[in-house]
Amino acid sequence: MSFENTAVPNQLFDAEHSAAIVASSFDATPDPRLRELLTALVAHLHAFVHEVRLTPDEWERAIEFLTATGHMCTDSRQEFILLSDTLGVSMLVESLAGEGGADLTEATVEGPFHVVASPERENGASLNDADEPGDPLLVTGRVTDEAGAPVAGATVDVWHANADGFYDVQKPEAMGVGDLRAALTTDDGGRFWFRSIVPSYYPIPTDGPVGGMLRATGRHEFRPAHVHFQVTAPGLRRLTTHLFVGGSPYIDSDAVFGVKESLVFDFPWVDDAARAAEVGLPNPFRHVDFPVVLHREEPAGTGAGGTVG
Ligand code: BEZ
Ligand code: FE
Repeated sequence: MSFENTAVPNQLFDAEHSAAIVASSFDATPDPRLRELLTALVAHLHAFVHEVRLTPDEWERAIEFLTATGHMCTDSRQEFILLSDTLGVSMLVESLAGEGGADLTEATVEGPFHVVASPERENGASLNDADEPGDPLLVTGRVTDEAGAPVAGATVDVWHANADGFYDVQKPEAMGVGDLRAALTTDDGGRFWFRSIVPSYYPIPTDGPVGGMLRATGRHEFRPAHVHFQVTAPGLRRLTTHLFVGGSPYIDSDAVFGVKESLVFDFPWVDDAARAAEVGLPNPFRHVDFPVVLHREEPAGTGAGGTVG
């Protein structure tokens, strides 16, 4: 059998130059971005092995850990994303992708619970189909671009946990799928608003290898209370983010590093019977206003920036 014409040069291995030797095997990769990614990956992996002088036993443990992570994955459970989340990689990727201006609403992780389509609801609707107990909440907001122009017709997809920290998909019999979720559409002024209850902080899943990693390192598994948002509109970059409840436990130590200061808001009590009646909530209720600023993308071919998402 002949191996002529392979991309791998006839280069014998030596530990000192290991990364360069392996990187050269990618020289003929037709896709330049794939070549860049693989070359840098090998450089960093080899530097890591050199730096910590990884032993064969440790390498084997790492392979077992990754294998167990794969075995934990199903259609509704993504342990690799959880691993990426708990190592801060998901937040780094989101943060870099969301860069573009000081005034833009910052991005955070999407998380594993955006697994069902949110029911379309009118502005002002209640998300609390199952009549879950909790502090009554009014959320208002306005979607604009970075120039301050309102974005009419934007889709505002929201989902959040109940006051015990469970999502509908974790308790489908009790809550019904679609509870505490909504797909809203902004009005002519870019506004959206809805009624719900204040969510609780909650634990990320710990029954897999990621849970083992958290226990082995003395880390806790909790996320501070938050409402997820994904906002989309033609011509604007999609934003995946959270609105965090100021003062929530774990606001300074989110297990997935999702908190950014600009996304933490007070949810003060409002004691105003007339306003409560107007919006259809008991008095008193809690209120938060969330301004959402999206990045306007240049149409393809008109500038240096490409499209993202
Ligand atoms: C969430 O907020 O839904 C979430 C994000 C990352 C890991 C686990 C849960
Ligand atoms: Fe969440």
